[in-house]
Amino acid sequence: MIALSRGIDIAYDDVGTGLPVVFLHGFPHNRSLWAPQLGGLLARARCVAPDLRGFGDSEISGPYTMDRYADDVIAMLDALQIERAVIAGLSMGGYIAFAIWRRHRQRVRALILADTRPGADSEEARAKRREHIALARAKGSGAVADALIAGMVGRTTREKHPDIADAVHRMLTMAPVDGVIGALEAMIARPDSTPTLATIDVPTLIIVGDEDVLTPPKEAQAMHEQIPGSRLEVLAGAGHVSNVERPAAFNHVASEFLGVLTYA
Ligand code: MLT
Repeated sequence: MIALSRGIDIAYDDVGTGLPVVFLHGFPHNRSLWAPQLGGLLARARCVAPDLRGFGDSEISGPYTMDRYADDVIAMLDALQIERAVIAGLSMGGYIAFAIWRRHRQRVRALILADTRPGADSEEARAKRREHIALARAKGSGAVADALIAGMVGRTTREKHPDIADAVHRMLTMAPVDGVIGALEAMIARPDSTPTLATIDVPTLIIVGDEDVLTPPKEAQAMHEQIPGSRLEVLAGAGHVSNVERPAAFNHVASEFLGVLTYA
């Protein structure tokens, strides 16, 4: 389905009824990342999962910034006539969730922050992203996927569920080159969201895989300590895409969290 969002076409899935939850994928993913949640949570919530601009079936149209991705999400909510939603973001989706909170907090009912971090990039991380931009230009998204896949899933998934690792790798390979480059530039330029954490005053669930090497559990613990009243869940045997690697466990904690919100 396509919604007109600030002049560009955004593809999204919209299933279930009840409390609206917007699922924001990471880099360089697309909305299919959230298939296990849309299938597992539709009885509990209205689950909306967009492709961010430049990814999946959404329009490839820059420039790309965290604020722009955030404003796209709000324009999509406007088009769907959703006043307030739970914002669930994984990794780069979490960076966008912080931008949504800063710019449109009245639209946020609650937050789910999965495998993400508040900090801006270090100089070393920026240099690595510039290498990936050059790689994408020279050799395409497949080469970037090859460079990223080792960190994307955990050791347990690689050893015991190679099919899941292969499916994630396929998703990364499909990302449009312009979207990949745009997102890398957006992440290089993103601000430090650490000062934002103490301002969050909506219910917040933090989820992290215990084998996540990109946004490790210590990042999640630090966020938990700085977001008042937040809840932290560590999923055993999951890496960076914990929602795909341990879908039942992820859905269980998300469902419990959404249940409390529904009846609060
Ligand atoms: C993601 O999954 O969105 C990326 O790992 C985020 C990043 O590269 O910082």
